Amino acid sequence: MSLKGKHIVLGITGSIAAYKSALLTRLFIKQGAEVQIVITPAGKEFITPVTLSALSGRAVISEFFATGDGTWHSHVDLGLWADLMIIAPATASTLGKMANGIADNMLITTYLSMKAPVFVAPAMDLDMFRHITTQRNIQSLIDNGVHIIDPGTGELASHLEGKGRMEEPENIVAIIEDFFYKEAATSQTGELEKNKILITAGPTFERIDPVRFIGNFSSGKMGFALAEACASLGADVKLITGPVNITASHKNIETISVESAEEMYKASMNLFPQMDAAILSAAVADYRPLHQEDEKIKRTDSDNLTIELTPNPDIAASLGKIKRPDQTLVGFALETNDEEANAIKKLEKKNLDYIVLNSLQDEGAGFGKDTNKVTVISRKGQKISFGLKSKKEVARDIINSVFFSKKNK
Ligand code: CTP
Repeated sequence: MSLKGKHIVLGITGSIAAYKSALLTRLFIKQGAEVQIVITPAGKEFITPVTLSALSGRAVISEFFATGDGTWHSHVDLGLWADLMIIAPATASTLGKMANGIADNMLITTYLSMKAPVFVAPAMDLDMFRHITTQRNIQSLIDNGVHIIDPGTGELASHLEGKGRMEEPENIVAIIEDFFYKEAATSQTGELEKNKILITAGPTFERIDPVRFIGNFSSGKMGFALAEACASLGADVKLITGPVNITASHKNIETISVESAEEMYKASMNLFPQMDAAILSAAVADYRPLHQEDEKIKRTDSDNLTIELTPNPDIAASLGKIKRPDQTLVGFALETNDEEANAIKKLEKKNLDYIVLNSLQDEGAGFGKDTNKVTVISRKGQKISFGLKSKKEVARDIINSVFFSKKNK
């Protein structure tokens, strides 16, 4: 996920690294964020507000009152407006003021009024950074929930071992994207609002005669868990399910019950053009009896009975053919050998964006179980393997990988 629509307050203080803030601003804007810069008086010695306001498209705030007309700049409003505050570069002096509540400039008052998460990218020479006072201030900020970007290591610090140099803007943006991604992934509501998602689930039954069918052991649990998870994130879900013994309860889920692969195919092809994404977790029969007998097949005296099978349409591949660039298509693969290579082949053949690999080699994973163990592979070759978890948690992992991963598709 990019930073689209995020409100970021960028605090800049008096360090030579302030030149990096210009690039940081540009990167934030490029990712779709809105950036409000608050600069300390010392910060202005290193980079001009003109440069920064041109890059951010907003007047830079420095004083409590605008110099021209005396308008009061409300740090309280900024605290409410922001989704995130980052101070980069942060000098030893600013860290000290933050840790001790010395609100003698607009940046510190904004920090003290901030309702959103606060990140800090320290920048100073190594002796200052290592000084016990600085370390104590930083530790106190960490203890108060401020996220410190450990200088030089590009990590969020829980303890400090950095080199004092401000982290590179690209890494700061990556850390912040990651933060929003995790926040979105763990939040429960609204993140997939207005998304229309098609999900196929369960087995298909292929009729042989009026009382018999060819089916499989799929319980539909994985698909139903995906439907519930998408719905709870605000998505509008169409759940096309083969014959199963479970029901979906969320109000955002419309269940469409089908029996055979052909019925599932028709329903899927019909709905897919209106969808933003489709997740195909159904265990679709690849073949059906060539002839469906109208009457129950009788036992005869001949030794063997042969049922001729004919291929079913491949729903995943058919949707892959009509998929638009704005649509996301996710398939599943159940493999017994050469798992990853086979899954990737399937992803390419069916023109999927992601494939979820279930391994039959893992105990506790697969048909009828309440748990599953999956690897999500993207078209770009990005691969995330998860441990054995409940299908509800697996559903969230899949959704996070598909919809909230910063390296989408
Ligand atoms: N699938 C589908 N329609 C079919 C068969 C499969 O939509 N007729 C979908 C499944 O829902 C799954 C993916 O395709 O998302 C992979 O299914 P799988 O049965 O593993 O693949 P096949 O192409 O049938 O390959 P094989 O059985 O040879 O491994």
